[in-house]
Amino acid sequence: MATELHETARAIVADHKGILAADESTGTIKKRLDSIGVESTEENRRFYRQLLFTAPGMEDAIGGVILYDETVRQATDDGTPFPEVLAAKGVIPGIKVDTGAHDQAAFPGEKVTEGLDGLRPRLEEYRTLGARFAKWRAVITIGDGIPTSGCIAANAHALARYAALCQEAGLVPIVEPEVLMDADNTIERCYEVTAWTLHATFAELDAQRVDLRGTLLKPNMVVSGKGCPEQAPAERIAELTVDCFLRHVPAAVPGIVFLSGGQSEVEATENLNAINRIGGPWPLSFSYGRALQASALQAWGGDASNAEAAQAAFAHRAAMNSLAVAGEWTAEREQPVAA
Ligand code: 13P
Repeated sequence: MATELHETARAIVADHKGILAADESTGTIKKRLDSIGVESTEENRRFYRQLLFTAPGMEDAIGGVILYDETVRQATDDGTPFPEVLAAKGVIPGIKVDTGAHDQAAFPGEKVTEGLDGLRPRLEEYRTLGARFAKWRAVITIGDGIPTSGCIAANAHALARYAALCQEAGLVPIVEPEVLMDADNTIERCYEVTAWTLHATFAELDAQRVDLRGTLLKPNMVVSGKGCPEQAPAERIAELTVDCFLRHVPAAVPGIVFLSGGQSEVEATENLNAINRIGGPWPLSFSYGRALQASALQAWGGDASNAEAAQAAFAHRAAMNSLAVAGEWTAEREQPVAA
């Protein structure tokens, strides 16, 4: 089992590939569909995910796709379950298993992620449905007097218990401690909080006997808060991100897959490229939701006749991010191929 976990983790990020996060909960996907004026029916959600998963060429840049509980049970028009469609293309199916970040009792303004109760049988079922990896997202908020050590400890503990259960079930846990970029903090403050969070998370993973070689880390980049008047450029983001991870992430981790967290599509690619120009002992890749889907959603707009254009938009973003993993992306590569 250990070897299979190691191989799965390595395969997801092999050959400069990354992950498509298509695991938006029913509430989150409704927001995305609302933004293009499309009603969030089960059929529209299925159609949109089908479009992404069957996009020609996506498998050249995407090694894994994170699904949601509804999505892992859905199928293409011809009745083939999504996990099978992905696996046939050599793309490894994964599943979001946390049940969301909820207000943490006694910690105003902070959240703790739930979903441990009953997790063992749920993981077993997801594996029978074809999932080979899982995701759990912890949320750390920067603000006045927060985060607290109580919040960081509770989230790190939950992440580690989730990770141990995943490995028992034969699923690679993606460990996602996300420091939000929504506040007005400086990049230095983001560095400090990210370092603290990573340190606590890896201490708990060790304490809960998680095999790091069978995990992937999904962190935020070290960036300026959205509301900070001084926005650090890509080179500074890269320098501080790699420095922070060199200090706090063991080299045994087989891959770091960044979340986009509200960065624009091109920003997320440019920053990832700058990070890979420096590099580290791990593959430094992507597990983007919004930064892989924004153009595709716009191009689709809920009209089936735009499906091919939407697929091309998604495949383009995936390819740009794979170039960024190689450190070979340039702004010129963004130009559409001559018509
Ligand atoms: P974003 O890249 O849109 O932040 O989503 C990634 C994700 O899966 C967050 O949990």
